[in-house]
Amino acid sequence: MAEFTSQGGILRGQDVVSILFPVAVIPLLFLLRSVFFYVKARSQFPGPPIRNFWVGNLDQTMANDVHEKWLQWNREYGPIFQTWNSPFSRVIYIGDPHIITEITTLNWPKSSAQYAGFRPLSGDALFVQTNHEKWRIQSKRLAPAFQPHVIQAQRPCLAKHLSNFVRAMDVVAEQNTVVDLSSLHILLTLDFVGDIAFGTNLHAISQGRDCRILQLFEIILPELMKCGLFPLRGRFPILQKTRLMYRAIAELRSMAEKAIKDARQKGDEALGTSPRKKISDILATQREPDESYTFSSKELCDNYIAFLVAGGDPTAHTMSFLIYQVLCHPLVLKKVRAEIDANIPFDTTVPSISQVNLPYLNMVIKETLRYSSPGFGTFRVCPVDTTIAGVTLPANTTLALWNPAVHRDPKLWDNADEFDPERWQSGQPKVRGSYFPFSSGPRSCIGQGLAMLEMTMTLATVFRRYDLSLESGFQMEYLPSFTLKPKNGLLVRAILRKF
Ligand code: HEM
Repeated sequence: MAEFTSQGGILRGQDVVSILFPVAVIPLLFLLRSVFFYVKARSQFPGPPIRNFWVGNLDQTMANDVHEKWLQWNREYGPIFQTWNSPFSRVIYIGDPHIITEITTLNWPKSSAQYAGFRPLSGDALFVQTNHEKWRIQSKRLAPAFQPHVIQAQRPCLAKHLSNFVRAMDVVAEQNTVVDLSSLHILLTLDFVGDIAFGTNLHAISQGRDCRILQLFEIILPELMKCGLFPLRGRFPILQKTRLMYRAIAELRSMAEKAIKDARQKGDEALGTSPRKKISDILATQREPDESYTFSSKELCDNYIAFLVAGGDPTAHTMSFLIYQVLCHPLVLKKVRAEIDANIPFDTTVPSISQVNLPYLNMVIKETLRYSSPGFGTFRVCPVDTTIAGVTLPANTTLALWNPAVHRDPKLWDNADEFDPERWQSGQPKVRGSYFPFSSGPRSCIGQGLAMLEMTMTLATVFRRYDLSLESGFQMEYLPSFTLKPKNGLLVRAILRKF
């Protein structure tokens, strides 16, 4: 081995080689290895061509019509294809129902590459948890607040906000004006989820665009998306927009902290033991056998914010997509109406839980969630190369279990591109793993029951009370963002029904 000595400041040739070898050769070997893996990975699965080496397919995956491309790529390249965000980051889309079922049932962990971007907003919440053990513990602790009897107990709170919604719609009907119903849906879901799962009355319907929480989200979400794509932007908040985002997040957190403090001050006794407690109160006052609170204030804040983000928009957008489809399909409208009229007396403003046991409306909701699912799926990873059904999935690579293409795959559904609620007569999809609007397996949506309650009650209220018609020439356009949403709202006119 060469000894490191210098004589009169001059290095011996042997020494130079021993220093330069690792400095030059190791990075070169590393580079060659990366190139080898990149070339191998590029040919591992088919996918759309890359136009720019450095940004891969970002020009296509960030485009406003990516939801249509997912369908097209699935049909062109088959159920498993890949896209690149850079030479170092790829996403493998899985559209094979068998593989989807296997991964979600085995509950592979979420991919940190995809969820890390949400951390500035929702910290260590269940939604973004990539540490599997921590997820397991948290999910067990949150579960009691999402039991069916607790969900049903949120009905009075929903009825309160639905009454405000009806008041706003009645004005639209009286004045015969055009309303963007999708905005009203967003305000309603914000009020409801804000009240029961965030612990705060947000006054979204009464304040409209002036509602503070809406303004905060408008500051946070676009910037958060950019920080997710370019993590250094979030880590070093030099830009004004990034600093504003952090300030808005702090304001949101202080609202959640206040709600937790209030719930704890009121204490378990004041809240009573009745199942009518709100989800946020149940969680804030939940205790361990040693009487300490189950959740720290930070953990609760993280989760409250995640509920608000994950729970509001997808529910609102599903209702908007559904109403649009129903108005475009007169036969479906006729059946929805007949069922609702047979079950809910005319003088009812907001129906009871037993009145919204409506099988046909349920089929229409299922079909809407198939046809235009607002939640795209889930990102998972495997720690080692794993082969399922003959397909080897590489370790530590983001796997997108993506429903848009699967839900419209002609190999899995008859008349896949047709909106047809009748296909749900039997209740189940024909192929297991071909339908997962709420994700699937142990890590599926914790708020599914809540969303179903909110959607059935709201839709039954709307179809019972109003004759809706689309504004002349209006056509729904879809925009993929965090969720699939209506691009230009849902413009309708409403007339109070007469009997
Ligand atoms: C129609 C309405 C809804 C749809 C379509 C929907 C869809 C989804 C989907 C696809 C996932 C998986 C996401 C992923 O793995 O990245 C998910 C997870 C989740 N959803 Fe929902 N959701 C809805 C309503 C709600 C509501 C109302 C809440 C709560 C108030 C909620 C809370 C959550 C949470 C906390 C998770 C994370 C679960 C976990 O990682 O263990 N969602 N949802």
